[in-house]
Amino acid sequence: MTSLLVTNIGELTTNGPQGTVQHASLIVDEGRVAWIGGESHQPPTDARLDVEGRAVIPGFVDSHAHLVFAGSRAVEFAARMAGEPYTGGGIRTTVAATRAAPDQTLRANLARLVAEAHRQGTTTIEIKSGYGLTVEDEARSLRIAGEFSTETTYLGAHVVPDGTDADAYLRLVCGEMLAAARPYAKWVDVFCERGAFDADQAREVLAAGVSTGLAPRIHANQLGEGDGVQLAVEMQAASADHCTHLSTKDVDALADSATVATLLPGAEFSTRSPYPDARALLDAGATVALATDCNPGSSYTTSMPFCIALAVREMRMTPAEALWAATAGGARALRRDDIGHLSGGARADLTVLDAPSFLHLAYRPGVPLVHTVLRNGEPICTP
Ligand code: NIG
Ligand code: FE
Repeated sequence: MTSLLVTNIGELTTNGPQGTVQHASLIVDEGRVAWIGGESHQPPTDARLDVEGRAVIPGFVDSHAHLVFAGSRAVEFAARMAGEPYTGGGIRTTVAATRAAPDQTLRANLARLVAEAHRQGTTTIEIKSGYGLTVEDEARSLRIAGEFSTETTYLGAHVVPDGTDADAYLRLVCGEMLAAARPYAKWVDVFCERGAFDADQAREVLAAGVSTGLAPRIHANQLGEGDGVQLAVEMQAASADHCTHLSTKDVDALADSATVATLLPGAEFSTRSPYPDARALLDAGATVALATDCNPGSSYTTSMPFCIALAVREMRMTPAEALWAATAGGARALRRDDIGHLSGGARADLTVLDAPSFLHLAYRPGVPLVHTVLRNGEPICTP
């Protein structure tokens, strides 16, 4: 691998000790950030990329996505926009379509979505199972997910599938299904919600996963207040995701913990639900991440810029808070210190915007502003 000088950067957001640097250059060596400085003192390199005054940010870290599925729920979305509530019941529709799909269909759909995410500036994406819900289908979902990301999450505890006894299913999720999923997963997740799994069941699922070496994360407080956030903190989960309905006690618990509050405003947008109180979380001192929750039911978007625009407009995050949450926040939610920032030694995952400043991500909603994306210093998206 050769060294690469990225030069003529109008505004560089590092999320690191150097903060935001104007008129910057950055050197990539062996896939890592080797040097950041002004344009006048550039050490020699093998190659050069002139970004002509554009802004450069760390690649987005999308720490919550459900990308292994088949089928569409566009009709369910239309019904919702006509007034139907979102209950999560449509998950079973996707489970049926996913089980019926051959591996190559799941792989092609996943490849398309990952490529779509790359084109929107994402360089790391977490991928959950959860639409298989049999031993074989959860294992194959994670096996295919592993072809695209190292951040793979076992979500056998998404819902209890039709025609299955809840206790028997819980035993399966914590036993044979976990054993089959384990070789392909890094994380264990559970949908802790009325109509899915209660706090005791969710604790059992997470504890079983942890006992095999998986690290916990949790779908918490999406459709109503509940025990999910408290459980996430109790289990020292890496993140509590959704956090749409929080009590003051939940906000305080997150602020006093190492558990990241991952907000998924695409889900509120697509289910016409109230947005989470990001300000309460930030003002209390909680660590906040933003992610897409990309899935065919509640949030069918791979666009982190769209989520940033929603976070700023609808959740009153500042543009700087939203960008941090979509990069460094996501990295914290995945317990990664090599991504989400552009300091010396970090992975050279960076997104060049066709804009002079990151502010344009929220200022110009819906406009494709991603120009070039490098991952490990290699282009994965070019103009
Ligand atoms: O995170 N809440 C649970 N799971 C997904 C939605 C799944 C679906 O509707 O298919 C979510 O929003
Ligand atoms: Fe989700």
